[in-house]
Amino acid sequence: KRLLLLNGPNLNLLGNRENDIYGDFSLEDIEKSVELIAKENGFELECFQSNHEGELIDRLQDATGKFNGIIFNPAAYTHTSIAIRDTIKAIKTPVIEVHISNVHNREEFRHHSMLAPVCYGQIVGLGVMGYKLAAMAFIEKN
Ligand code: DQA
Repeated sequence: KRLLLLNGPNLNLLGNRENDIYGDFSLEDIEKSVELIAKENGFELECFQSNHEGELIDRLQDATGKFNGIIFNPAAYTHTSIAIRDTIKAIKTPVIEVHISNVHNREEFRHHSMLAPVCYGQIVGLGVMGYKLAAMAFIEKN
């Protein structure tokens, strides 16, 4: 059993980026804590971060049939990407959209997700815990 953890643009900067909004933890901290939950429950975790829309699309396409679920923080592409939406719709693997911050108490342009309607679920505003809860949801489901 396998889970894929995908993170989009600028999330490689976590820990050094708007810490008041995103917290002090790094992307590596997130990956480690999700990996722990996965391993404890007999799942393997693969992690990938990219600042490039096309690379995220390639990873999503490649994931079909190979993973039980995808935990995905698409970052700013959430609000703009019809291309990523089409990919999520096309692949068979369920995706949970995760946001570290509560996008609903931020700027208006962050309130809308292009992707949520084609995702299995969405978690916002819970920091690192959001990624862990997404992993738990897939573990429970499989
Ligand atoms: C984010 C929210 C997005 O609006 C923003 O562009 C990000 C991070 C979050 O995790 O809270 O880069 O996805």
